[in-house]
Amino acid sequence: QNAWKLADHPKLPKGKTIAMVVLDGWGEAKPDQYNCIHVAHTPTMDSFKTTAPEKWRLIKAHGTAVGLPSEDDMGNSEVGHNALGAGRIFAQGAKLVDLALASGKIYDGEGFKYIKECFDNGTLHLIGLLSDGGVHSRLDQLQLLLQGAFENGAKRIRVHILTDGRDVLDGSSIGFVETLEKDLSNLREKGIDAQIASGGGRMYVTMDRYEGLKNLYFPPNEGQRGQRKKRSSQTEILGRNGSLLSNLVFMGGNEWHNDWDVVKRGWDAQVLGEAPYKFRNAVEAVKKLREEPKANDQYLPPFVIVDESGNPVGPIKDGDAVVTFNFRADRMAMLAKALEYEDFDKFDRVRVPKIHYAGMLQYDGELKLPSHYLVSPPEIDRTSGEYLVHNGIRTFACSETVKFGHVTFFWNGNRSGYFNQEMEEYVEIPSDVGITFNVQPKMKAIEIAEKARDAILSGKFDQVRVNLPNGDMVGHTGDIEATVVACKVADDAVKMIIDAIEQVGGIFVITADHGNAEDMVKRDKSGKPLLDKNGSLQILTSHTLQPVPIAIGGPGLAPGARFRNDVPTGGLANVAATVMNLHGFEAPSDYEPTLIEVVDN
Ligand code: 3PG
Ligand code: CO
Repeated sequence: QNAWKLADHPKLPKGKTIAMVVLDGWGEAKPDQYNCIHVAHTPTMDSFKTTAPEKWRLIKAHGTAVGLPSEDDMGNSEVGHNALGAGRIFAQGAKLVDLALASGKIYDGEGFKYIKECFDNGTLHLIGLLSDGGVHSRLDQLQLLLQGAFENGAKRIRVHILTDGRDVLDGSSIGFVETLEKDLSNLREKGIDAQIASGGGRMYVTMDRYEGLKNLYFPPNEGQRGQRKKRSSQTEILGRNGSLLSNLVFMGGNEWHNDWDVVKRGWDAQVLGEAPYKFRNAVEAVKKLREEPKANDQYLPPFVIVDESGNPVGPIKDGDAVVTFNFRADRMAMLAKALEYEDFDKFDRVRVPKIHYAGMLQYDGELKLPSHYLVSPPEIDRTSGEYLVHNGIRTFACSETVKFGHVTFFWNGNRSGYFNQEMEEYVEIPSDVGITFNVQPKMKAIEIAEKARDAILSGKFDQVRVNLPNGDMVGHTGDIEATVVACKVADDAVKMIIDAIEQVGGIFVITADHGNAEDMVKRDKSGKPLLDKNGSLQILTSHTLQPVPIAIGGPGLAPGARFRNDVPTGGLANVAATVMNLHGFEAPSDYEPTLIEVVDN
């Protein structure tokens, strides 16, 4: 107990209600027409910068400042929220996998040995996101793993690809598939049987996230479910009438939670070898399916690769080994459950092969999921959330489904659940399902702000923490107009929260986890927007390398409190100590330094 006790801050009082707001995907960049934050009417966020510049600054949110391998790595929500919550910089999954592959230690570990037991008689299946985005996975890591599996005796390999277009440019998946095909053909020349077996777009196949709380789960409307069932049992080769994706927006409005259908579509293709589209070749599959109405890399219908007799080349069978090669947890945990759990009722798995399954990392340390993994995840311990709860800070956290785990699970060092249920309340607002968020760019921002406002006014909490997803989730769609609306509503939500803070005499801390909405085009080195070969703008759906703002204020902020000038390279990891100070505590000595000082006046 004593190890958790934080020292009192010499100057800052206790007992102030603090609103901790994370604007997802809200970076700072030059103002131009592709900067949606600049274009949008955002008077609240603008006012911090202009009216109290000593209480506004920029902090780093990408690269080594958040534990990523290099300064070319854009920020992302996992590493961003980890840094915000943990107050220290941990080498992240991307880096840990790089190191394990470079040293070869990955092949000596328990996880790989377990997988290797199947090499003599079974197939090795690799399932994951195929891109060099570096957020969930990386192509070069997959390439090294393929080579390593070959050197370690794998005789038959099947790769189940998920196309990206979200952490990388839309359309780039074709190139990634071509690269992978070349590697697999090289392996075949060396005498092993290696092929792509299935695929689909990451947002439509496999990579849903955050299973959420059971009691918030409402089953989807039966009619639609029946229809979709019928579709998924069809097996046609091209030339079908009507697109699977054309009803995407109409599936919205169902107040059910996360979408196990996404995982099921993947399961059917990867495990059962069943998909609505069959192709002989994966490059052709991606090219053809991109022509479907509404299809793009993110939303590509599921397909399987078949042999000359039309049989799928790589269903997962008894005695096979499976590795999910994403290092990031949030969008792999649901599949990990389907692959690992004996008792499973989220969808009908039809056939549950007896396999040896390992994750690239262990995705959830609390659930020990999966039980086998190739690389140990970062051990993010002693997070600020845990400290503060031990020091009497009653905490409320809220977002909608798509970012709920960000302000809880990621914030708490990839740990699910409460530290102390009596001190904490986490509220998840169900996200709309089955839509792309440019259709509803307001998302649940106002609902989140209302929950935060009520929590602040209730007097029951010392810290009220929210994530406002709009800039990021709408930014990922590449729809500039919708992203402008998204930024405005996020600003409105911030206003509601700081109004509540005014009423209770509290303090606000407004920041972001990484950039996205502030830049929607790919640019050359000089900053000029790039055009593709057809002369169209290259839309940037991904995050950016930009820094993010942080603003502090509110009537409860001590008059002399302001940002220090002597931590010029401050980043997201410096925020935790800052917030601990504002709660009236000194941060632990190994935390990254606080961003604030208190001058006597
Ligand atoms: C996603 O998973 O949606 C993107 O790859 C990254 O987005 P996030 O890091 O903002 O969640
Ligand atoms: Co994002």
